[in-house]
Order: sequence, then C-alpha cells, then structure tokens
Amino acid sequence: PLASTGELVTAASAARSAVAAFNVITLEHIEAVIAGAESAGAPVVLQVSENAVKFRYGRLLPLARAAVAAAERAAVPVALHLDHVQSDDLLRQAPGAGFGSVMYDAARLPYADNLSATRAAADWAHAQGLWIEAELGQIGGKNGRPPLDAHAPGARTDPDQARDFVAGTGVDALAVAIGSVHAMTTRTARLDHGLLKRLSATLAVPLVLHGSSGVPDEGLVEAVVGGIVKVNVGTALNVAMTGAIREFLAAHPEAVDSRKYLSVGREAMAQEVHRIIGVLTRTPR
Ligand code: G3H
Ligand code: ZN
Repeated sequence: PLASTGELVTAASAARSAVAAFNVITLEHIEAVIAGAESAGAPVVLQVSENAVKFRYGRLLPLARAAVAAAERAAVPVALHLDHVQSDDLLRQAPGAGFGSVMYDAARLPYADNLSATRAAADWAHAQGLWIEAELGQIGGKNGRPPLDAHAPGARTDPDQARDFVAGTGVDALAVAIGSVHAMTTRTARLDHGLLKRLSATLAVPLVLHGSSGVPDEGLVEAVVGGIVKVNVGTALNVAMTGAIREFLAAHPEAVDSRKYLSVGREAMAQEVHRIIGVLTRTPR
C-alpha cells in the first residue's frame, strides 16, 4: 500500500534502523524496487528526481501515475518522494501527483539564500501536509558536475550551522555532506563517521545519506549506527541493470524483443534492492 516517507522514517528511527530510498527512472525501476522490497519484506521509498523528470520530457505525471498504481498494489508499504527539487514549479506539482514528501535542494546557493529558499519551500510544503527534506553542505557529483574538493568547507555539513538551518527552516529531515558523492560506480567512498556522530548529537531531525551507491556495505552499516535514517540509492541500481543487460546482449546477439533484456535487467535490479535493504535492516544500532 501507499505509505508516507514521514511515517517510514519515524518507524526506522524507532527501530534504530534506516529506510532505503531508491531513485526510479523507468517503469522497470519501479517494478524492480517494489519486487526487491517485497522479497526483503521491508517498506521502501520510491523517489523521482528532478533530473528523472527532465528525462521524461519534463513531465512528472506519467511516471508518477505508474508509481502510485504500483505502490497501491504492493505487498509492503511504499512511499513516494520527489527528490532533488530545485524548481518551484515542480515542487508545486508534488501533492497533485501523489507524492507525500519532497527533498528541496537549494544547497548550491550561498548559506543565507539556501536558508530563505528552503524556509519558503518548507512553509508551503507543511501547509500542503508534505514531509520535507533539505540539504546543507554540498554533496558533490550532481548533474554531472565534479564533486567539490573533499576538504572544501562547502563539501561538509557544519554541525552548528546545521542546527541554525534546521531551526530557521523547520525542515523535517536533513541531507548531510559527510564524504559521500553522487553517481559513483565503485564502492570506495569513505565517510566521515566522526562528523556524523557530531551532527546526530547536535540535530533532532532524522539525517539522510545521499550518494549511497559509492559507500561500501561496512560504511553503510556504520552510518546507520551513527544516526542516518534514510539512505538514498540511485546509481547502484543502474550499475546492476546495465551490467546484466550488457551481458545478456553479448551472449544473445540475435535478441530483439525488448522484454527479453529488460526482464533480465529488472531482475538484477530487484536483487540489488533486496541486498541493500538487507545491509540496512540487519544493522543493530
Ligand atoms: O538522491 C539520490 C541519491 O543521493 C542517489 O545517489 O546515485 O550516487 O546512489 P547515487
Ligand atoms: Zn542525492
């Protein structure tokens, strides 16, 4: 059934665990994430990013309608979340398209501008009954841009600034920059677990890890122990799907029916979803 990100995050936090949030781009992504969550017996967040909407010719509704229909029929709770929203126009489409939560991303802006834009987005979202996540400290690698230097001040979330930001914006959750980078195809990111401990000691809101595809399993386990409650994964699904399709097509050069290779790719993605949920939910904190 359709659930809300807020309730899944609250439940994960109470269980000292984390909820997995997967980025979906195609119908096969939606089906694979739900199949993987069902086989793991765990709730899941399906998230659609602004970039994914751009890929869908700028239209949110076709993919959103498919996600809502799939979530309603799922055997586990499934929440729909709009991810990395920069456009106010897209933000305003969220409730009508069936999304119960949004991540408003103004982290590229100078601090004062991030604060005021995020506060306005949070006021609007709360008036609509939406749960809202925001980002402070730039998590690199978005939109094909190279990550900030790991030592640049903007590439890490400062705990004192984060306390002011949460108080000043009223957001429900915060994405923190602790060393992960978006769009990594190898699991070689090293998280700053000391900083994470300071952030979770300073902040009362749930913390979100972005760019989780690049984080090794042990790093994810430690991050959940350290206070991460929502773990965003995108690239790892594409690595699994594309690898399986590439292998299938190499072995079957005569194949033309798209269902043949899409089903192979979808199955590989579902297995990766199941595996990642297992890593997150077996974590004792
Ligand atoms: O918001 C989405 C996530 O941060 C996904 O990042 O593709 O590097 O796993 P990733
Ligand atoms: Zn992200």
